[in-house]
Amino acid sequence: MADVAEFRPGLAGVPAAKSAVCLIDGQVGKLQYRGYPIQQLAEKCCFEETVHMLLFGALPNAEELAAFKAELAAERSLKFRIIDVLKHLPESGHPMDVLTAATSALSMFYPGDHVEDLAFRRISAIRLVAKLPTVVAAWYRIRRGDEPIAPRADLGHAANFLYMLEGEDPHPLTAEVVDVALTLHAEHSMNASTFTARVTGSTLADPYTVVTSAIGSLSGRLHGGANERVLAMLSTIEDHSPQAVRRWAEDRLARKEKIMGFGHRVYKVKDPRADVLQGLATKLFAEFGATPVYDLAVELEKQMAELVGHKGIYPNVDFYSGIVYQKLGIPSDLYTPVFAIARVSGWLAHLLEQLENNRIFRPTQIWVGEADREV
Ligand code: ACO
Repeated sequence: MADVAEFRPGLAGVPAAKSAVCLIDGQVGKLQYRGYPIQQLAEKCCFEETVHMLLFGALPNAEELAAFKAELAAERSLKFRIIDVLKHLPESGHPMDVLTAATSALSMFYPGDHVEDLAFRRISAIRLVAKLPTVVAAWYRIRRGDEPIAPRADLGHAANFLYMLEGEDPHPLTAEVVDVALTLHAEHSMNASTFTARVTGSTLADPYTVVTSAIGSLSGRLHGGANERVLAMLSTIEDHSPQAVRRWAEDRLARKEKIMGFGHRVYKVKDPRADVLQGLATKLFAEFGATPVYDLAVELEKQMAELVGHKGIYPNVDFYSGIVYQKLGIPSDLYTPVFAIARVSGWLAHLLEQLENNRIFRPTQIWVGEADREV
């Protein structure tokens, strides 16, 4: 038998691609998209600029940005038959499952000759970034018996998403916070959903199918699904005193239960995105009033640093995102879909990179069964 490589559960530390999309140094909390620090992108660029840079490699100048925004805005609406698909789904359906179903359906409404056709690749990427927020907002309304609201071309990506939820112009700070949150979630190198996208893309499946598979991967509770569970978990802590919070954390750790919103395969320090989200939370509280659960979260972070900081377990992006979204009035089961409408840009950037130099993924395995048996 041929020599087998060392088995690494979860492929930890195994490079799956050569990439120039996202650089992370988890030892020091560095996160850069195409070499630009996440803090600068969050402060100086709108989501659409970041998407342009992720997809096409460069930040747009003013003219390019205006053209790109117009292209996205022109692709926001959904065909009425996609809306019909949504109307036939059970209203109890989780929005991530709905997003998977609708994205999969898009491939039938927008078939292309082949993913190697560069024009099909480009327009598919633009459609996916543009239409996913419309699907999420439409489902938010359809499941409660309301008609979807048509997108508006005069609003930015984040503001239009908020507008499509309730039909009201969002407060400028609310739109700004969602815009930054989308930028923070846009890309994160070879995480599970991005790896999924690259694997599916490597078979030359169409971009809608690639994104469908990535959405499925993101939905799991160890990945994007964690943000929804952080608030549910915090709501079980009744006594917010430091001693009680410490006891709660100790009990949970003793039972070997994961504390949602903590830990990361790559970061061994606090996730830099959690810091930016805390800054956004502070701005929101100054404008709209404080949220008691935020103080609880800060206390839990402090206790966890003392208990498991030495193991490199610190808050990840999901720990504070739910608190921010709750303050914005976004329902908890939309937190992961909001993550998806941001991360679709990263998945597509990786798909485009994968297709530039494609080889189908086909890893190996370590055989642990019996061989050469007779029936
Ligand atoms: N709470 C308690 N202990 C933890 C946590 C946590 N959140 N995360 C890791 N640990 C401990 C594990 O119990 C394990 O301890 P041990 O060595 O004593 O057995 C050790 O740290 C290593 O943990 P693994 O689960 O093996 O680490 P891995 O890199 O495989 O997993 C993951 C990373 C999945 C993010 C994990 O930290 C986790 O489950 N966190 C909670 C869920 C979560 O917040 N997910 C969101 C991640 S960010 C994102 O996807 C956007």
